[in-house]
Amino acid sequence: MAVLRRTPTMSFTTIAAILAAAIAVLSVSASDNNRVYSPCLDTTVARSDGFTFGIAFAAKDSFLYNSTLQLSPCDSRLHLSTANSQIAVFRPKVDEISLLTVNSSSSPDSYRYMVAFSGRKYASRSTPAFVANGSYIVTSFTLVLEFKKGRLQNLYWKRDGCAKCSGSTSSVCLNGQDCAIKTSNCKNSGGKVDCSLGIQLAFSGTDKHFSALNSWYEVSNLRQYSLYGLYSNLKDSLTTQYSNFF
Ligand SMILES: *[C@@H]1O[C@H](CO)[C@@H](O)[C@H](O)[C@H]1NC(C)=O
Ligand SMILES: *[C@@H]1O[C@H](CO)[C@@H](O)[C@H](O)[C@H]1NC(C)=O
Ligand SMILES: *[C@@H]1O[C@H](CO)[C@@H](O)[C@H](O)[C@H]1NC(C)=O
Repeated sequence: MAVLRRTPTMSFTTIAAILAAAIAVLSVSASDNNRVYSPCLDTTVARSDGFTFGIAFAAKDSFLYNSTLQLSPCDSRLHLSTANSQIAVFRPKVDEISLLTVNSSSSPDSYRYMVAFSGRKYASRSTPAFVANGSYIVTSFTLVLEFKKGRLQNLYWKRDGCAKCSGSTSSVCLNGQDCAIKTSNCKNSGGKVDCSLGIQLAFSGTDKHFSALNSWYEVSNLRQYSLYGLYSNLKDSLTTQYSNFF
């Protein structure tokens, strides 16, 4: 049984501040033997280790090199640092189900698209996920981190369609896959909804000792949004907003 734990809220940082952010999240734990704290370096992990990865927010085209090649945000050829992008760095514990929150004071439409990434020679990156534009924001995501012998193989967004949208007047189904909130309902725009992002994490595959990572099996059995109810300090914002909406 994986332990449920909320990873501390991280504020947005700029790319220039990426190292500072990585250092800020060092939570030294006796059982964490992974000494790699940069999201742009390779590592292999065991179940008790922390694992560092980043999420970059930028326009969809900013993640493409030469309009076609999808590169890791760590790749300097993308010039993300000059592309008006924002980076958040997280260090969850491997095989714990975590809820990451990204709480930004900037306007929701500055999120645009996000890509989760980690590694250098063995770089993995997710596809770009739509987060927000001037009209809509998607605030709930599930990210799966898939490992093989402790090395990250794949990062992907798990979607569960728009079932939760039905019956709600405040949300709409975008592209048949994301339940989105109108940004005019967000607090930054004078509305009532806290439009902080919530990202549920799940781990799958094997660690470097070939132990199976199980949190994926648990999260796939949980309904999306169900973790929000476990975090009392989010109750007044995310939980209430979802129970109002769905
Ligand atoms: C960029 O794409 C164009 C057209 O596909 C190609 O001719 C050019 O060589 C590419 N440049 C680089 C640096 O890959
Ligand atoms: C986000 O930050 C604001 C201001 O610091 C705070 O009032 C709000 O409760 C935070 N939301 C979450 C979900 O942490
Ligand atoms: C935001 O995205 C939605 C869905 O793709 C689109 O219908 C809408 O026109 C976009 N709004 C803006 C302001 O770009």
